[in-house]
Amino acid sequence: MKLNRDVISLAIKQWFYQWYRGVKEFARYGVHLRFLLPWLWLKLSYLLDSPYAVSRRYQRQQQAADLYVYGETPLETLEEIAERSSVKAADHVFELGAGSGFTAIWLHGVKKCRVTAVEQVPLFCWRLLRTVKRMGLSAVSVRCESYLQTSLSEATVVYLYGSNLEDAVITELAERLAELPQGVRLITISYPLTDFVGQETFVVTDQFSAQFEWGEAEVFIQERI
Ligand SMILES: C[S@@+](CC[C@H](N)C(=O)[O-])C[C@H]1O[C@@H](n2cnc3c(N)ncnc32)[C@H](O)[C@@H]1O
Repeated sequence: MKLNRDVISLAIKQWFYQWYRGVKEFARYGVHLRFLLPWLWLKLSYLLDSPYAVSRRYQRQQQAADLYVYGETPLETLEEIAERSSVKAADHVFELGAGSGFTAIWLHGVKKCRVTAVEQVPLFCWRLLRTVKRMGLSAVSVRCESYLQTSLSEATVVYLYGSNLEDAVITELAERLAELPQGVRLITISYPLTDFVGQETFVVTDQFSAQFEWGEAEVFIQERI
């Protein structure tokens, strides 16, 4: 009974948090019409639900040991990351683990780049795909599959926020990213890829602390050499 109360109170807090954040995002980025309409449409699909609850249900279905693994990059933090990694309209950003997809919508709407959102949770993919189709966002692709399997060959920038991943998963992914051509930029949160593959594969070009929901985390910008 107590657990149920805790879970319900957490769900309510997260629901309010996402809308509090939504108001700030609207005020800051609402002038970008290319961002605003898709963002509003996607936001409405989370009116009675929250991305945190969607992720929890998926983790429960998978019988995961930890149900509380979901987090999102605040858009202000994404803006700082995109500035410092020089994301431009000519880039094709692969977001590995796109979650609800607000970050993909922001990258396309504000930075005007091509985005491929790779995500394993079917409901996240379905809602994002519905938004993409309804808003005619031809430069946003949604792949509902594992980023350990999907082809990464078109990426010029890769964004990975997966701070709770097991070392074996990061190593497997880092080995796949090592096959990308020289010059591709790779952005990771909490750890650099050089901790998982040889130093001769990637070079860290920038590192800084940025604000996430749960506090500060290190952002690593790397380049394939
Ligand atoms: C911490 S969330 C980040 C969401 C979003 N990128 C952001 O920054 O706001 C990580 C996401 O990665 C997804 N994920 C984890 N492992 C995955 C895999 N192997 N393939 C595709 N998605 C995965 C999870 O379902 C979750 O939605």
